Amino acid sequence: MKWIKAESYEEMSKIAAEIFKEELQVNREMVLGLATGGTPEGFYKELVNAYKAGEISFADAKSFNLDEYIGISPENEASYHYYMDQQLFNHINMKDENIHVPTGDTSDLAKAAADYDAMIEAAGNVDIQLLGIGVNGHIGFNEPGTPFSLGTNVVELTESTREANKIYFDSLDEVPTHAITMGIQTIMNAKKVVLLISGASKQEAYNRLRSGEITEDFPASALHKHKDVIVIYTDVK
Ligand code: PGA
Repeated sequence: MKWIKAESYEEMSKIAAEIFKEELQVNREMVLGLATGGTPEGFYKELVNAYKAGEISFADAKSFNLDEYIGISPENEASYHYYMDQQLFNHINMKDENIHVPTGDTSDLAKAAADYDAMIEAAGNVDIQLLGIGVNGHIGFNEPGTPFSLGTNVVELTESTREANKIYFDSLDEVPTHAITMGIQTIMNAKKVVLLISGASKQEAYNRLRSGEITEDFPASALHKHKDVIVIYTDVK
């Protein structure tokens, strides 16, 4: 695991975007693994700017997002699909058929989960997976206690996660209780992982990851077993 300290949120976003840009410039058919949340917003701005400046093209690239809420349609403004459209997809030239976000509004979630892993595998696996980290150490929506061996699956969200995400809803009651997420194993199959950590609320998660301990109680610790992980952090000590 390689650790890069950024002096600011903007610098963290730029360093991460640079890693993706460099790959895309040599591999036009890159498979991007993407994340939602507050942390990657600056990263998406950097990618959109690079696209608009003609530095990169997504014409032959594919993307797979980490997760989606259950019971929320892609058109719902609180959905991760909607977030991704706003932050990235509406502004770049990735083809619709190459954009993948797990399906959370289907009656057959088990099939949606299995199909998602099959699609990622058929695409040759993710080249670079972007990750944020939850205050409880979750990656994607893999909450503490998740077996590292799981592929894409349906999870019950913890109260701390629902609490952290209620800013995107009118009230806590409206935050979904379940989500569909790439599993830890799906994430570990990515060829490279870029993990962003920003801000004081993530101090404890940062400390725990930095300790090197590997435990299913702290999902991000699985990444210690991956051979190519870059952690870019800012505003944590
Ligand atoms: P955040 O979410 O970027 O909004 O803090 C990260 C996460 O929960 O994985």
